[in-house]
Amino acid sequence: GRRISVHDLASAKARGEKWPMITAYDALTARVFDEAGIPVLLVGDSAAMVVYGYDSTVPVTVEELIPLVRGVVRGSERAMVVADLPFGSYQASPAQALETASRFMKETGCHAVKLEGGHRVLPQVELLVASGIPVMGHLGLTPQSVHAFGGYKVQGRGEDGVTLLQDAKALQAAGAFAVVLEVVPADLAAQVSQVLHIPTVGIGAGPGTDAQVIVWQDMAGLTPGRTAKFVKKYADVHGVLLEAAQAWAGDVVSGAYPAEEHTYT
Ligand code: KIV
Ligand code: NA
Repeated sequence: GRRISVHDLASAKARGEKWPMITAYDALTARVFDEAGIPVLLVGDSAAMVVYGYDSTVPVTVEELIPLVRGVVRGSERAMVVADLPFGSYQASPAQALETASRFMKETGCHAVKLEGGHRVLPQVELLVASGIPVMGHLGLTPQSVHAFGGYKVQGRGEDGVTLLQDAKALQAAGAFAVVLEVVPADLAAQVSQVLHIPTVGIGAGPGTDAQVIVWQDMAGLTPGRTAKFVKKYADVHGVLLEAAQAWAGDVVSGAYPAEEHTYT
């Protein structure tokens, strides 16, 4: 069967159908989410935190992300795979963005890339799109700019909402096929979603966007500590895995594992 394409996502918006996008960073979870029928898998630079243990997305590199994208592409059959371009790999110039995006497309087999920002990255988006690379935009609380924001705070309130709407329209005009809206007021996200003809993908942006995205470890209860207000926990993977690990470790210590049925004669 063929993969979900940007055209399928455009059609979903035309039909008023909402869709989910979820992060994935390896082959086995990609396979689970593909089996769940989730049409778009994002290899987010959130891998910086959930895979590599950094405390923001700023340090993660192209070299660290590319192997993860390869695993997600290999582990999935139907989903469209979107790869995040990490901080510092596209801002300098459109040529830098094309070089980085080309590496992701050629070396991983991903189907689109995502980059953060509005007006300042329009030349980058235009060149990638002209080169045949589908681009997803990302506005609002763009984590690569956390140090400029002075923390993880709601974006797009008041006057900033006007700028965000303009940025969203400009990304659409530059050829982006969708735009993520992260941690912005719900009424602004709903307005942007109504004005744009390309799909909006919300995270902490309320119910009015065309799609929703989540970091899977947040949704599944693997992320330690307090999670953001927008996170709903659908499982306790931390608890399940902890119990399994403790049970197995205990069986090894007691000698209960391996038993006869796990043993070759
Ligand atoms: O890196 C990421 O996981 C993301 C989503 C949360 C939108 O960019
Ligand atoms: Na990201």
